[in-house]
Amino acid sequence: MALLDIEELTVEFPAQGGALRAVDGVSLSLGEGDVLGIVGESGSGKSVTMLALMGLVPFPGRVRAKRLAFAGHDLLHMSAHERRRVIGRDVAMIFQEPTTSLNPCFTIGFQLTETLRLHLGLDRAAARAARRSCSMPSASRPRRAGSATSRTRCPAA
Ligand SMILES: Nc1ncnc2c1ncn2[C@@H]1O[C@H](COP(=O)(O)OP(=O)(O)O)[C@@H](O)[C@H]1O
Ligand SMILES: [Mg+2]
Repeated sequence: MALLDIEELTVEFPAQGGALRAVDGVSLSLGEGDVLGIVGESGSGKSVTMLALMGLVPFPGRVRAKRLAFAGHDLLHMSAHERRRVIGRDVAMIFQEPTTSLNPCFTIGFQLTETLRLHLGLDRAAARAARRSCSMPSASRPRRAGSATSRTRCPAA
């Protein structure tokens, strides 16, 4: 059984004079350890394909497929609660645009460890330790978002 199984995925957005079909019948199948790169011109539907997999196509976008399954879980018909137990723990997405996908009121570290706390049940200290165990060498470590936090007077993270 494939780990990821997408069959005839279609995503449409309502548009003037009809629907804009952003993804038109995409099928793919991946096994554990497989790596797939999707290449295409801008606007060809790469991001929307992955947003559909994650259940993140914004309203009023419409997702249809013959099959959209990860590790045997039917992603198309599961509840939001069930989906949260799979997505985030076993499937993750690195968003293209940090200014819209990261919250400037929280440090990057907090946002990295949130997933560990939610899905693995780690407390803050354990999640922080896990993050540190795979952190980058200091020379390439980016500046903490915390300094921006104090400048913009956001609530403490
Ligand atoms: N929320 C949305 N509402 C309407 N159209 C969208 C939305 N998101 C993406 N699209 C359209 O879907 C098509 C595919 O976009 P996208 O998947 O972002 O392309 P790319 O291959 O560059 O990642 C484009 O025509 C884009 O304008
Ligand atoms: Mg894209």
